Amino acid sequence: MEERVISGEATSFDNGFEQSLRPQRLGQYIGQDRVKHNLGIFIEAAKQREESLDHVLLYGPPGLGKTTLASVIANEMGVNFRTTSGPAIERPGDLAAIVSSLEPGDVLFIDEIHRLSRAVEEVLYPAMEDFCLDIVVGKGPEARSIRFDLPPFTLIGATTRAGSLSAPLRDRFGVPLRLDYYDRAALAEIVVRSADIFGAPITREAAEEMAMRSRGTPRIANRLLRRVRDFAQVRGNGQITLPTAQEALELLQVDSHGLDSIDHKLLLSMIERFRGGPVGLDTIAASIGEESATIEDVYEPYLLQIGFLQRTPRGRVATPRAYEHFGMDMPDDGRRNE
Ligand SMILES: Nc1ncnc2c1ncn2[C@@H]1O[C@H](COP(=O)(O)OP(=O)(O)OP(=O)(O)O)[C@@H](O)[C@H]1O
Ligand SMILES: [Mg+2]
Repeated sequence: MEERVISGEATSFDNGFEQSLRPQRLGQYIGQDRVKHNLGIFIEAAKQREESLDHVLLYGPPGLGKTTLASVIANEMGVNFRTTSGPAIERPGDLAAIVSSLEPGDVLFIDEIHRLSRAVEEVLYPAMEDFCLDIVVGKGPEARSIRFDLPPFTLIGATTRAGSLSAPLRDRFGVPLRLDYYDRAALAEIVVRSADIFGAPITREAAEEMAMRSRGTPRIANRLLRRVRDFAQVRGNGQITLPTAQEALELLQVDSHGLDSIDHKLLLSMIERFRGGPVGLDTIAASIGEESATIEDVYEPYLLQIGFLQRTPRGRVATPRAYEHFGMDMPDDGRRNE
C-alpha cells in the first residue's frame, strides 16, 4: 500500500523529525486536558511519597501522542526512560534481562503491548504486581522456580488496540488513559509550536487551515506542516500564509476535511454506484479494488468518526453529511437501494 499523506501511522517521511518536535514536559504537551490533569496529580502524589508512579496504560489511535506522553512522564518523574515493544520481547528471558537492569523508579515503556506473547505476559504479572521475577531453572522433575527481587519501576504500556489486550494484563494497570482525537484549536497550537521549532513564519489562519485538515491527529498536522513549509519556501518567500497553505494542500490532494483521493473514491463509489447504501463491505471492496480488511481498519475509522459513514446491520451507509461534502443530493425516493 502506498504511503498516504493523511495516514495516522508513522511513515518514512516522519522518521527523524518526530523526535525534534516531541514535547519534553507536561506543560508543553498540548490538548488532552483531562488526561494531563489526572496525570499531573498522580505524578505529584508519587513524587511527594517518593514512590514510583503506578503502571500506566496509554491507548488510542496512531499518532495521537502515546509515545510522546510516556517520555514526558519519565521526564516529569525525573527518571530514566527505557523503551521496547511487544514484538521485540520474544522470550521471557528477554523481558527478565530488561527489567533486571532497571534502576529504582525507572519508566519501562512497552509499545504495542497487545503483541506480547502469553509466556512473556506470565513473567510480567509478578514483575508488575510485586516487583519480582519468577524464573524457572532446570528441566523436567529437576525444574524449580527461583524468585528475584526487582527495583520498583513504572511500566507504561501503549496500544492502538486496547480491545486486544488480555484482561489480566489490562487489570494490572493502575492508571488507564485513553487519548482522544484533538480538536481544531489544539491542533492549530501544535502547528504553531512546530513551525516555531522549524523557524518557519506562519499566520494564525494558515495554522487553523492545517489543523482542520489533520484528522484530529498531531502526527498528520506536523507532516502537513513540513510539506507546506517546503512549498512556501520554493514557491514564495518562506512565509506560510493562508493562500500558500491552501494551494499546497490542494496539490497534496488533502481536502477541507482531511480526506484524500482514496476516501473520495470510497465515498463516491457508495454514492454513485450503490445510491449511498446500505452496501456490504465486501461489495465496496470489490468495487474499488481494495481488501475488505484494509477498508475496515484503515479507511473507515475516520469516516465513521466524522459522521460521513455509518455501519448498519445491512451494510455501510453514506450519510447526508457525506452527500453535502460533495455538493450532491441524496436520492429522494427514501428507499436507497432496497
Ligand atoms: N500533545 C501533543 N502536543 C504536541 N505535539 C504532539 C502531541 N502529541 C503528539 N505530538 C506530536 O505528534 C507526533 C506523534 O506522536 P507519537 O509518536 O507520540 O504518537 P503515538 O500515539 O505514539 O503514535 P503510534 O500509535 O504510531 O505509536 C510526535 O512527533 C509529536 O511531536
Ligand atoms: Mg508511539
